[in-house]
Amino acid sequence: MTARNSDIEKAAGVLRAGGLVAFPTETVYGLGANAEDSAAVARVFQVKARPTSHPLIVHIGGAEQLGEWVEDVPATARLLAERFWPGPLTLVLRRGGRVSLDATGGLETVAVRVPDHPVALALLSAFGGGVAAPSANRFGSVSPTTANHVRVELGDAVDFVLDGGPCQVGVESTIVDATGEVPSVLRPGGVTREDLEAALGRRIAVHSTSRVRVPGQHPSHYAPRARVVLVEPEKVIAEAELAQEVGHQVGVLLPPSFSGAQVKAHAVVAVPGSMAAYARGLYGFLRELDQRGCDLIVASLPVEEGLGLAIANRLRRAAGPRPRE
Ligand code: TXA
Ligand code: MG
Repeated sequence: MTARNSDIEKAAGVLRAGGLVAFPTETVYGLGANAEDSAAVARVFQVKARPTSHPLIVHIGGAEQLGEWVEDVPATARLLAERFWPGPLTLVLRRGGRVSLDATGGLETVAVRVPDHPVALALLSAFGGGVAAPSANRFGSVSPTTANHVRVELGDAVDFVLDGGPCQVGVESTIVDATGEVPSVLRPGGVTREDLEAALGRRIAVHSTSRVRVPGQHPSHYAPRARVVLVEPEKVIAEAELAQEVGHQVGVLLPPSFSGAQVKAHAVVAVPGSMAAYARGLYGFLRELDQRGCDLIVASLPVEEGLGLAIANRLRRAAGPRPRE
């Protein structure tokens, strides 16, 4: 048995015993508990300092298990599951009896996904049940994309951290409300709007403020300690230098069109030109700028197409609500 197999067995044992396991997915690391164990689920909320009304995603090992967790599987949901699972898509459907009401924040719907990561799938298979897991960070802060991010942020509060290397997608799953006839996006993420539209053969609405509770969509989520300021790409350098001059420790997410430019700031991260690489790196960049002591981060939004939509969404949330004028 390889070390990894023994780690997976150990992690599955921790879940069975009601403990918490941080595990890798293709999007971000999750903080997992047995989805049928109310006490274990309660600890997830406690460790994250997350309000208990904010529902978790139930991770399952394969699309064929979906029917065990939801009341019924409408044709659209089936189509999306078959097309995108395993992968960074979460489906919100009517709750089945199996999932703990604590995991759904008391809602009559449940969010379900099959993660596309060999370690996550091995864990789900060894455990055999559903794993309720939010991102493994404290409520409101930047999601972890490496095992080390989890260790630094949650430390001993987690019973076991499964290390599966850095996450390949880097932003969370796309959440689709599939309860009604017409699906809609509740949170943009790793599966793009364009891919969803191609699969569905029609346009899909993206609700940035949703009727259902999606705390990931509340202001100041995904936020580093440093304040995030968003400006037009061509103003990033001037804004950063001005803030640095008046005494801030400025971190810069330098747009690709300005890469190589000299910026008088405390720390500069050149943003990759490829949206996939940007998404993969985003949370690590924000953590790095915090770690280097920045108190202000100047950035601009990418074009909101493909993964750029999710990146822009996270940067806006990180920047929080605009101050009242
Ligand atoms: O990629 C991901 O989705 C990661 C990995 C670990 O799978 N998980 C993640 O979980 O981002 P979390 O808890 O940080 O965000 C889950 C989002 C929350 O915004 C929550 O409100 C929403 O899913 N959600 C969960 N159940 C829901 C429901 N029944 N209706 C609407 N939104 C729901
Ligand atoms: Mg989260």
